[in-house]
Amino acid sequence: MHILGIWDGHESGAALIEDNRIIYAASEERFTRRKMEIKFPFNSIKAALDYAKLKPDDIEHVAYTTTELTKTLERIMPYSKEYYYRFRRRKMLKPHFENARHNLKYAMTSIGIAPGSGAVSSYIISRNLRHAGLKNFKLHIVEHHVAHAATAAFTSGFRTSLVVTVDGLGDGKSGSISTLRNGKLERHSSLSVRNSIGIFYEQVTNILGMRELEDEGKIMAMADYSYPFEFEENKLKGFFEFSRTGIKAKYGPLKQFSMLQRISWQTPREQFAYMAQQVLEKVLKEFVQNAIEEHRIGDVAFAGGTFSNVKANMIIRNLDSLKHWYVFPHMGDGGMALGGALYTNYLMNGVSDYKFNAYLGDEYTEADTETELRKESGFEVQHESERDAASHAAELINGGNYLFWCRGRMEYGPRALGNRSILAPSGDDKVKDKLNLYVKKREWFQPFAPSMLEEDCGRLLKYDSKGAPRYMTMAYETIEDKADLLKAVVHVDGTARPQAVGDENPAYKDLIGHVKKLSGYGVVLNTSFNIHGEPIVMSPRDAIKTMKATNTRYMFINGLFVENKEGI
Ligand SMILES: [Fe+2]
Repeated sequence: MHILGIWDGHESGAALIEDNRIIYAASEERFTRRKMEIKFPFNSIKAALDYAKLKPDDIEHVAYTTTELTKTLERIMPYSKEYYYRFRRRKMLKPHFENARHNLKYAMTSIGIAPGSGAVSSYIISRNLRHAGLKNFKLHIVEHHVAHAATAAFTSGFRTSLVVTVDGLGDGKSGSISTLRNGKLERHSSLSVRNSIGIFYEQVTNILGMRELEDEGKIMAMADYSYPFEFEENKLKGFFEFSRTGIKAKYGPLKQFSMLQRISWQTPREQFAYMAQQVLEKVLKEFVQNAIEEHRIGDVAFAGGTFSNVKANMIIRNLDSLKHWYVFPHMGDGGMALGGALYTNYLMNGVSDYKFNAYLGDEYTEADTETELRKESGFEVQHESERDAASHAAELINGGNYLFWCRGRMEYGPRALGNRSILAPSGDDKVKDKLNLYVKKREWFQPFAPSMLEEDCGRLLKYDSKGAPRYMTMAYETIEDKADLLKAVVHVDGTARPQAVGDENPAYKDLIGHVKKLSGYGVVLNTSFNIHGEPIVMSPRDAIKTMKATNTRYMFINGLFVENKEGI
């Protein structure tokens, strides 16, 4: 049996479950090459079918999520969605009516699923699916936070867990608390949009001149450049109140925005970011702590875009009452495609426990890659076995170089986890600066992150046994005397956002193992393989284009070593 999951909002995409196994998942941006793509996921649907060698007709069930009024209106008027996408991503100047649109957006946020919005959404989704060639399918609607909860609960490996979702909004809610017990997922409470901590953080991002739904990580990074101060002195401290059952915002989203604007006007940027981050951490910590106490479950699975905040995640991890944690890697709305499919399979077949890793996208052969490389000149190409590539790449990294490392199936989610990565030494500031100058062009205050062998995490980080950070979703304090070794991958506050590499990616583990043989520690700088502002590369064509555009010297790709002798 096949269940296709689709998502047609921010970070659209598709996922496929075949006979109770997740066999494919990818985001549409990788195909259209528009970061955070919002268009209907025609390309990812086709890629999922091609991967599984299926015809559109073979799909019996399709799941989609989110039928709130605003989302339904976007489906009726896709140009409004495109307009917002282009405006938000700074592809167009601010039009005169933007303030009115902005106010209308926040005024409408509290309207969730309206009568008829599900039927209208389903009509439009079905029409698009028929364009994609699907004919005899049954369409399933999954509520937004149920889909988030399903991604966290069913891929965590926990048999019993507390399941917490928090985001800006979806289907009239901004968060939920559920439990998974003996394979049964049950929701206990939810947060309304009026009390959304996700919208709060989104508004702060907007007010600081950055792109909401995209640059929230920059606010988190910038916050650490502020002089620290106590919560009592925080001008935003009264914006949220806590109770046993949830979070209460002092203002509705519209009023909150103007109050935040007023305070930010008189506050240095990094201090304002610090205030917002401090409020977020406090709200999430209390919210999770209360939920753990109420349900008496210490193993907690998280999803929803707000849990991309690795510093807040670290504060939560440090709760004594939290025994084990798991954050779903595509925690934002990009995870909706898989979430819808997972929940539908849970309802139909009772499946609530999947063997999961994030390597769920397309892969390419050596022959595909050679064909693309033959179209180019100026590159030297050599065949290299996987073992040789690992030791060769390690030597180059240890020698003070950065390189592109592209192989196997593409990762699902925002992080490159060793299959579409740029790798560099973890302790070399100069290489980091060169990488930033020519390729990544990140803001000066944004740190890079490390990948490290799981066995070395305890030697480099203040590590614990509460969970392995497989997907770079958690910050850790680093060990002080390793500062030099981690110079290029540690944030100004001494924390890092590591990937712990185990047996889920043997080729990557082998590479880092060779780095360890040369330097004594299994750690490298790992950043996503893309040019600033573009999605992560998917195909050999994308990789070659990136190599040329950045004039990069070394690339390991699908069994080939490519050198651009003229490269930097
Ligand atoms: Fe969401």
